[in-house]
Amino acid sequence: MLGNWFGRFCGAAIVLALLLFSTPCSCSRGLEGPGSVTVPRGRFGPDRREERRLLMDSSTAPGLCESIIKAAGYPCEEITVPTSDGFLLGLQHIPHGVVGSSSTHKKLPVFLQHGLTQGGDIWALNPPKESLAYILADEGFDVWIGNLRGGRFSYGHKNLSPTDSRFWDWSVDELADTDLPALVGYVTSATQSQLYYVGHSQGTILALAAMSDDNSAVTNMLKAGVLFAPIAYMQHMRSPLLTLSADLMLDKIVGLFGTREFNLNNEVGSWLVNNDPNMICDNLLLDFSGPSCCINTSRVPYYLQWEPQSTSTKNLQHLAEMMRSGRFEKFDHGLFGNAAHYTRLSPPQYKLADIPRTMSLLMVSGGQDALADPIDVKRLAGELRCRVSSHYLSNYGHSDFVLGTQAQVDVYPQVINYLQTLEH
Ligand SMILES: *[C@@H]1O[C@H](CO)[C@@H](O)[C@H](O)[C@H]1NC(C)=O
Repeated sequence: MLGNWFGRFCGAAIVLALLLFSTPCSCSRGLEGPGSVTVPRGRFGPDRREERRLLMDSSTAPGLCESIIKAAGYPCEEITVPTSDGFLLGLQHIPHGVVGSSSTHKKLPVFLQHGLTQGGDIWALNPPKESLAYILADEGFDVWIGNLRGGRFSYGHKNLSPTDSRFWDWSVDELADTDLPALVGYVTSATQSQLYYVGHSQGTILALAAMSDDNSAVTNMLKAGVLFAPIAYMQHMRSPLLTLSADLMLDKIVGLFGTREFNLNNEVGSWLVNNDPNMICDNLLLDFSGPSCCINTSRVPYYLQWEPQSTSTKNLQHLAEMMRSGRFEKFDHGLFGNAAHYTRLSPPQYKLADIPRTMSLLMVSGGQDALADPIDVKRLAGELRCRVSSHYLSNYGHSDFVLGTQAQVDVYPQVINYLQTLEH
């Protein structure tokens, strides 16, 4: 089974590995040579799954503070935030930095929201001088890191187990109208302050969805938003995994496995890898996100210790629907389901024009982004009626905003400058 898998996918892997890393690939041995990516043997085998099960058991697994942030030398407070539907979300607080934090001026809190199949660790995986969470803390910001349901640091529920399909019965709608208000609400009440929202990828979808909703409490809690790889429209997505999923694989996945956990490391993900010739067997991290300009490939094995994380098959289904429909809209339950849920036959759309005109947004986008394609970003920007600023990096791919080694030079200082300008 495993041998067959390696044989079948090495062809595709060589092409895509060339695209990503310009190195030849041998899946069974991992990549070798400069800039190599070594993937542990048996990544999809039982040992790996057992290891992962142990790691993800929320009762024993250490949180993000213990796992990564404190080890980097930063103060970190681990908080569990319950949602209105019983999920137990991880929230981390870095109250101050370790260098240059002599500023007496109290800055507004910054809330960092990760993207699809990622966790809050994505803001802190690089060394302190390259990771946004640490850079902001050292700049004197009060830093908070959100983790969405189902991910490694939010893998708990008051009374449902992850083996229960109800634990996975949600999509971006619930992330936007339940998780986001819980996390952002916690920060605003703890700090008695509005906050700056920084989101990446799906983290931008959630903010845009929440802010488009007149009834959402989130909008008033935000002073401004910084959107890395902003996504509302997905018509031009070119992700190897997601586009193929949208076209043919996803409905099969949902049909075969139902509403449940999706992780590239579990049997659902393995099935996809086995059946999708476009998958990059050596780089699960980048399967979702396509090419990148600036990722230090020798760190990928470390990234793979933390990522990719779980999401629900239903969430992927919702994203695939939006890719097909070309609309930014709620989950499509089918004619009868829509009638019951929305009292109309088609899902309601999120109205970007309804985001309050007083909201300030910085859109940071990349010319090589396979998920937040420049055409879709342009359409999104064209529909916003609020105060929009843009920062475009022609060479950036989807993951470069969070994992790229150059973001410390060509993204984060610009973000800090933007936030500081808003304070005055
Ligand atoms: C890449 O990462 C490794 C491990 O953190 C580090 O030793 C090396 O200096 C980095 N290379 C560059 C070009 O940043």
